[in-house]
Amino acid sequence: MKAVEIKKGIYWVGVKDWNLREFHGYTTSRGSTYNAYLIIDDKVTLIDGVKAPFTDLFMQRISSVIDPAKIDVVVCNHVEMDHSGALPAIMEKAKNATLYCPPAGERGLKMHYDTTGWKMQIVKTGDTLNIGKHTLTFVQMPMVHWPDSMMTYVADEKLLFPNDGFGQHYASDELFDDENLDIIMDEAKKYYGNIVWPYGAQVQKVLETAATLDIEMIAPSHGVIWRKHIPEIVEKYKLWSSYGSIADKAVVVYDSMWGSTEQMAREVAAAWGEKGLRVTLCSLKYSNISDAINDIVETKYVALGSPTLNSGILPTMGAFLTYLKGLAPKNKVGFCFGSYGWKKDAQDEMQGILADLGWELPEPIMTINWRPTPEGLSQLHETAMKVIKE
Ligand code: FEO
Repeated sequence: MKAVEIKKGIYWVGVKDWNLREFHGYTTSRGSTYNAYLIIDDKVTLIDGVKAPFTDLFMQRISSVIDPAKIDVVVCNHVEMDHSGALPAIMEKAKNATLYCPPAGERGLKMHYDTTGWKMQIVKTGDTLNIGKHTLTFVQMPMVHWPDSMMTYVADEKLLFPNDGFGQHYASDELFDDENLDIIMDEAKKYYGNIVWPYGAQVQKVLETAATLDIEMIAPSHGVIWRKHIPEIVEKYKLWSSYGSIADKAVVVYDSMWGSTEQMAREVAAAWGEKGLRVTLCSLKYSNISDAINDIVETKYVALGSPTLNSGILPTMGAFLTYLKGLAPKNKVGFCFGSYGWKKDAQDEMQGILADLGWELPEPIMTINWRPTPEGLSQLHETAMKVIKE
């Protein structure tokens, strides 16, 4: 396991988790990486760590450059265990190292690990640390992704380590964003929607700070390193964090018991297509909730369909809505529909959740009793058309 030099004397020492398929509810179809970085300077500095099961690989990667015992500085930008899991082993080996983290990071590390004997130094926004040729500047970025989150900037290298920010759950044979931009951007969007979406205001603050920095490389803790497409990903972060959307994009998310609600979903999609929208049809029977979220991130119009089951919504739609409520996306136009046998509860429940999210709901819910008739579908079609005002 060899380190990869990303700038003179600065190495990627992370690991690729090709087999990861689940990250606290997020289906990670392309695995992930846990990126950590080693700076060889007067004070040998490690930026972040990796998940605990990968500690040996991580140590091998560091050892290909320098004996881990010689690490002087450990920066913990984020306590979540995908980044801190290997830090106890590092602190055990690097007896003279001092760990730098913000106040919430110190609390978090003490809650997760036995930190007895660790030398820890609290840092806050604007604090700097000279490590020789380079100086590190720390900027707290609470809630991107946890209260402790922080980014570290190396001004003379124009290099930003934003931890979870700008990340992607994406394991690939590439270390940089030089190729496969469509896939990388899609994974960045999926990551944003599934991890960072609730924290738009906090992300905007990060973007304000980033705008004041001279940056030629963004090295996140997941996925590829940005060096070629920084303006593109920053523009996307501006769109996503402001809950903006692409005006002609729409998605119909649904599940169906015996095909009635599926017929309705296709009718809604057809109506919106006639209105000139680009419509994605997402059946929760076949698509996971993380992909459904990805479909919604920059989409303006979202229709939700479920039949009534046991006086409620189908379990797939229930799981999706629980997840959606937590991610709390704003600024969408919604429309709810579905079939029912003897009670209409599912559609009311969906509508209530979207109303609580503050979505615009210009038309009432549309239901069809048992099987769709041509007249019923026609009425649905007309109502769905009216959802689109522009
Ligand atoms: Fe990649 Fe919030 O951890």
